[in-house]
Amino acid sequence: MSDDRNLTRTHSHVATRDRSLILGQKGAVIWLTGLSGSGKSTLAYALERRLIGLGKLTFALDGDNVRMGLCKDLGFKPEDRNENIRRIGEVASLFAEAGLLVLTSFISPYRADRIAAKATSKGDFIEVYLDVSVDVCEKRDPKGLYKKARAGEIANFTGVSAPYEEPASPDVRVNTDELTVEQCVDKIVDHLRERGQFDVSSLRAEAAQEEAERAQS
Ligand SMILES: Nc1ncnc2c1ncn2[C@@H]1O[C@H](COP(=O)(O)OP(=O)(O)O)[C@@H](O)[C@H]1O
Ligand SMILES: [Mg+2]
Repeated sequence: MSDDRNLTRTHSHVATRDRSLILGQKGAVIWLTGLSGSGKSTLAYALERRLIGLGKLTFALDGDNVRMGLCKDLGFKPEDRNENIRRIGEVASLFAEAGLLVLTSFISPYRADRIAAKATSKGDFIEVYLDVSVDVCEKRDPKGLYKKARAGEIANFTGVSAPYEEPASPDVRVNTDELTVEQCVDKIVDHLRERGQFDVSSLRAEAAQEEAERAQS
């Protein structure tokens, strides 16, 4: 396929399945969404540790870190937030295609942006909603941002002066006010097991079947 910039897509000779079989896992984007202070970074890093401990290749993409590099040209206006999430969706999809369990921790306040990130993702996309009230987040205020936003020092602050659109049907919902970090991690890992993220037996059978067909032809 080509377009008016004379671009032509090329195709790898390696299938995502081949990488999954090496890694013993199916790659996925695990997309954490929630207000500032809801616990996305805390949970992503705890989950990353747990998954690595289970021998699963994992990588966490975190909000502020990405804004210091890949997205350092972007601010917090709606169109910049859209572009921020678009880039992260693309990068996360590449990591997942490489076979990793990618953890993304971004407020990602707009439903349409999350839906677009899911559509971009070539593999599994698992939406995890950190469901906790603005009040709780504001009491935690780990970075002192709510205080600044209330004082009018930060414009467009989600939950204070900018909207947060709740996911309609997240794959996993964790209330970080009621559950400890480890309980939240348990809930997400249980979900990954249930959906077969660590089970590559059907992929192995599929590969063997294709190999047998090739040998016959
Ligand atoms: N169950 C939980 N999961 C995640 N964070 C929690 C939980 N319970 C309490 N916290 C606390 O909430 C704060 C969340 O901060 P942070 O992870 O930086 O949020 P975010 O990345 O969403 O802005 C931390 O101080 C963390 O210790
Ligand atoms: Mg964070």
